[in-house]
Parts: sequence; C-alpha cells; structure tokens
Amino acid sequence: KMHRTVLALVNIFICGCFASPPNFILLFADDLGFGDLGCYGHPTSLTPNLNRLASGGLRFTDFYCTSPVCSPSRASLLTGRYQTRSGIYPGVLYPGSIGGLPLNETTIAEVLKPMGYATAAVGKWHLGVGPKGMYLPTNQGFDQYLGIPYSHDMGPCRNLTCFPPDIKCFGLCDVGVVTVPLMHNDVIKQQPVNFLDLERAYSDFSTNFITTSVKKKQPFFLYYPSHHTHYPQYAGPGAAGRSLRGPFGDSLFEFDTTVGNLLATLEQTGVINNTLIFFTSDNGPELMRMSRGGNSGLLKCGKGTTYEGGMREPAIAFWPGTIKPGVTHELASTLDILPTFAKLAGATLPRVQLDGVDLTGLLVNRGKSQREEMIFYPTDPSEMYGLFALRLGKYKAHFYTRGATHSGTTPDKDCPVFAVLKAHDPPLIFDLEADPSENYPLPLVGRPDLQKLLDRIMKVKAQFEASMVFGESQINKGTSPELEPCCNPSCSPKPSCCHC
Ligand SMILES: *[C@@H]1O[C@H](CO)[C@@H](O)[C@H](O)[C@H]1NC(C)=O
Ligand SMILES: *[C@@H]1O[C@H](CO)[C@@H](O)[C@H](O)[C@H]1NC(C)=O
Ligand SMILES: *[C@@H]1O[C@H](CO)[C@@H](O)[C@H](O)[C@H]1NC(C)=O
Repeated sequence: KMHRTVLALVNIFICGCFASPPNFILLFADDLGFGDLGCYGHPTSLTPNLNRLASGGLRFTDFYCTSPVCSPSRASLLTGRYQTRSGIYPGVLYPGSIGGLPLNETTIAEVLKPMGYATAAVGKWHLGVGPKGMYLPTNQGFDQYLGIPYSHDMGPCRNLTCFPPDIKCFGLCDVGVVTVPLMHNDVIKQQPVNFLDLERAYSDFSTNFITTSVKKKQPFFLYYPSHHTHYPQYAGPGAAGRSLRGPFGDSLFEFDTTVGNLLATLEQTGVINNTLIFFTSDNGPELMRMSRGGNSGLLKCGKGTTYEGGMREPAIAFWPGTIKPGVTHELASTLDILPTFAKLAGATLPRVQLDGVDLTGLLVNRGKSQREEMIFYPTDPSEMYGLFALRLGKYKAHFYTRGATHSGTTPDKDCPVFAVLKAHDPPLIFDLEADPSENYPLPLVGRPDLQKLLDRIMKVKAQFEASMVFGESQINKGTSPELEPCCNPSCSPKPSCCHC
C-alpha cells in the first residue's frame, strides 16, 4: 500500500498525472446539513454506505460550499469559481428561466473530456434549461443526462405520490408551473415524474454508465447531484419506512442505497481502487421544514444564511489504496474539486480566474490545504454590500448577518427571516476551532493580537474584492412560461396539459 502511494506521488511529481487516469464519482446531496449523517453524529440516520466511505476515506470537518442555496452552489462546484463570476445569482433558477450557466464557463466535465473521459450527469441539474434546452448538461460537457433539470418541488406536488403505496407528497410545492419532468438528455420521458421509481432509474443509469465505460476501457466522470434530501422528501419501496427518522431519514437512506449500488458496481468491475468518490452537499439544511427537514448539528442556523450551518457541509473523499482513512480539519471547498480532478487526470486548467485550489497534496499525502480563506456571499450578492463573511484560518469575520425564510422555526432568533440585515463594524469575529457554533464573538478591546488579525482580514477582503468581477446576472434575465419544459408542447391550456 505504501509502495502504491509512493509510486502515485512520484507519478504526480514527474508528469503531473497518474499512470492511468482515475475515475471520478461526484456525489452531491441536496439541503443536507452538517449534522445529518450517521458518520457526522446523527443518532438515527441510516447511512451505512456513506459511513463506509467515511471510515475508509478522508472525512472533512471544515469543508464549505459557496452559497447557502442551490443554483449558485452548483455553479461553483462545476466551474471552480464563485457564483458571482458566472452570474448565477441572486437566488436560484426556475423552470422557465431565460438564463443559465453561461456556455463559455468551463465545467469539470469539459476539463476532463479532452483527456478521453466518458461523462454523465444524473439527478438534479439546476443550472438552467433555457431556450431549446441550451443550458442542459449535454451542452455543458456531459455525454449523457438523466434527471429533473431543477428542484423537484418546482411544480405542483399536492397530488403526486412520494411514498408507497400512495402517500401523497407533503405540502403543495410550487403551483402555477408545469409538473416536474424527467429528462433523458434533452427529451422529456415522463411528466410528472414518478417519485417511487426515480431512485431506481438513477441507480440503474449510473451503474450502466460505469459498466459500459469500464468495458470500453474509458476513464469516467459520473456526476450525481441527488434530489435527496430536499423537500418534498420521497422514497421508493426499498427505502420507505426503513429509517427511524421519518420521511427525511427514508429519503436519505434511499440515496445511501444508491451509494451502495455504485460501490458494488465498482467492486464488480474491478475499478474500485482506481476511482475517487467525492461526496458533499449543496447547502445547509432547510430548517423551516421543522422535524421533516435537515439538521446542521452544532452549527448555527441553516439554508439561506451565511452562518456556518448554511455553508459548512459534510464531505468525504474515498479512494482505497490512495487516500488514507482519517479525519482532516484542513479548510477546503467545492471550489477545489475542479482543480483537484484536473490535476489527478493530468488535464489542463481552464484559462480563467479560478477560485479553487488543488487538494491532491491533502488527499494523497495528507499535507496542508492550500486554502487559507473562504468567502461567504449571501443568496443575493451585490457589489454594493460585497461579501457577508470571510474565514481566514480558524477565524471567521461577519460583516453582515441576516436570517432567512429557509432557516425559520429553530429557537435561535438570529436564524429566521425576522432577523433583518445587520451591519457589523467592526465585524463579529469568531474562533471556529474553539467555538464552531458562533456563539461567542471575540472582544477586540484590549486585544492587540486580534486587532492585528482584523487588519489581516481586512487586507484579504480588499484583495479578494478587487479581484471579483461580477458576471451579468443570469437569474435577473427573468422567466418566460413558454420555456417551462412541456412534454406536449402544442397542448392547451398550459401548464396542466403538460402531462405524459
Ligand atoms: C463569457 O461571455 C461573457 C459575455 O461575453 C463575458 O462577459 C464573460 O467574461 C465570459 N466568461 C468567460 C469565463 O469567459
Ligand atoms: C388535485 O386533486 C384535487 C382533488 O382531486 C383536485 O381538485 C385538484 O385540481 C388537483 N390539483 C392538481 C394540481 O392537479
Ligand atoms: C483494492 O485494494 C485493496 C487493498 O488496498 C485490495 O485488498 C483489493 O483486493 C483491491 N481490489 C481490487 C478490485 O483490485
């Protein structure tokens, strides 16, 4: 094993790549919080396969996504750039959105394709559909796609079945738009989607993709952004009623079951030791769903906020024989996945301003992370306010704080939407190693050391903001009902006739 690692390192050192490029599986959960997995301390979650990844891989304690909501977080994951650069702000894209992730942005799939990778995306895209499906995954470097191209609550769900035999989805979801479609590449296969069959379809699509790629001796990149555990929770017959945690627990268990199927396929096809699996989540838990929603563990608030609960996520890197099992407190982010995969595949980085750093030294050699800072933008970033918070080393400074609708209902009065925007000058500073819950701001008076730290933070903030060129907002381009995916485009009256 030691020998393998040394060889791998020598390889990286000499040619900047592995002898045979590794396969990549990128798993991205939805609205899953820091406290939701068994391997992150949840007492009743049922996640045996994610726990297996955690115990056999590297588990991060200080890993961040870039936004407390979906679309911007996904844009950063796939491009290695803050969402402000690509224009995926404010908020999220809708079924009829005119904009999407600009086609001149370079995704991880587009980075890997020139190295001969087979690429597939399965699940929740949420980076745009657009006119003639121009923003779908097959136009962003993915050979194949199966999934719902946005959140599965972005269509009426009141009469849809979320659990067997016929338990209706909880709540109404979004009304006045088309029901959610299941798309294969750019073709609608089913509308509304059948939630009871969905995970099975995703799992089969994914395992077939792996098997086919291995047969063709092609390295592969599978991107699986799951709908689990976003509202409304659902699960098919294999997972429903299996956890002690109710609908949320069953939804999470269904996702975990697919992780198990992927692991079994990697073992059967003999590529498990040449595959890096990376797991994380898009943003913090939707606390407004109360006990049906996720949990941020000991972190403050959740989805929609720039507190830790909104953006610090569980994350696991699993690669038997190459990544030694353990826990790391090093700082890392979804931004770093593109440069890391590029390095491991020997691929060229896009010639743009990247915000990610290469984590191979940390993953393979357990070295230091090259990441020293993390930027926290709100759901509606603007040049006027700039960043809301900045983490430098173990310290985090909040320049603005605000609650969010998504984080309502917990006893902490800083979390719900009623906690209006508050400016902090000087910023609130927390030591996240001593106080991860952001309970006790450090007093600056009589602490010249902290004054010095604040000077450094202000310098890093100024440098970062000087480097930030806001891309044109794609979401402010608005929506058009004709762009909502409809399986029966000439039918009337819309949206209810879009039903196949
Ligand atoms: C993409 O094109 C837009 C519009 O021309 C431009 O402003 C932006 O900088 C380009 N982005 C990249 C990554 O090249
Ligand atoms: C759902 O079912 C109810 C009762 O059957 C019906 O009145 C309503 O129109 C349906 N709603 C949708 C969105 O299909
Ligand atoms: C993967 O490596 C482990 C040792 O790290 C070994 O026990 C196992 O047999 C290998 N599996 C395959 C499929 O090569």
